[in-house]
Amino acid sequence: MRLIRVKDYAAMSDEAFAIVYERMSTNPRLTLGLATGSTPVGLYERLVSAYRTGKLSFREARSFNLDEYVGLAPDHPQSYAYFMREHLFDHVDLPAGRWDIPSGIAPDLAEECARYEAAIEAAGGIDLQVLGIGPNGHIGFNEPGTSLDSRTHVVELTESTRRANARFFDRPEEVPTHAITMGLGTILRAREIILLASGESKAEAMARLFSLNDFDPELPASSLHRHPEVWVIADEAALSRVRV
Ligand code: F6R
Repeated sequence: MRLIRVKDYAAMSDEAFAIVYERMSTNPRLTLGLATGSTPVGLYERLVSAYRTGKLSFREARSFNLDEYVGLAPDHPQSYAYFMREHLFDHVDLPAGRWDIPSGIAPDLAEECARYEAAIEAAGGIDLQVLGIGPNGHIGFNEPGTSLDSRTHVVELTESTRRANARFFDRPEEVPTHAITMGLGTILRAREIILLASGESKAEAMARLFSLNDFDPELPASSLHRHPEVWVIADEAALSRVRV
């Protein structure tokens, strides 16, 4: 695990962009794994401007998102499908058939999880996975206690995750109770991973991540210690409790 320490959110987004840009320029057929939430918004803004200025094309790329809320249709403003269209897909030339997000309204959720894993495999796996981290150390929606070899599955969200995500909803009760997420095993199969962290709310999770040197199920992000190609890009506030 390699740490890139940066000053603030903008610098974190610049570093993340530099890596994604380099990999997409070298391999236009890159398969990306993407995250939602506040953390990657600056990265997506930079990717959109690179597309608009003709520096980058998504025509041959592919993407798979980490997760989706159960019960929210893709046109629901708080769904992750909606988020991705709003922040990236509607603004670049990634063809509609080349991005995939688990469906939170599939009639058979277990079947949807199996379909999603098979689609990732059929695409040849994920080349570069972008991750954020929850205050409780989750990645994707893999909450504490998730096993290392888990694949795409349905999870019940913890109260702390529902509270952390309530800011996107009108009322806290509207935050769904369940989600579909890639498993830790799915994430670890990506060839390269970047974990982004910004702000004081991530400081405890980051301190715990760097106090460990192997997987501890109580901190799902620590599974990344088992992967050979991980970049952690974190700002000063997120690293404020890490003793290096
Ligand atoms: C989102 C996801 C989550 C978030 C995490 C941090 O697709 O998988 O793990 O990355 O909850 O969220 P933000 O970036 O909003 O702090």
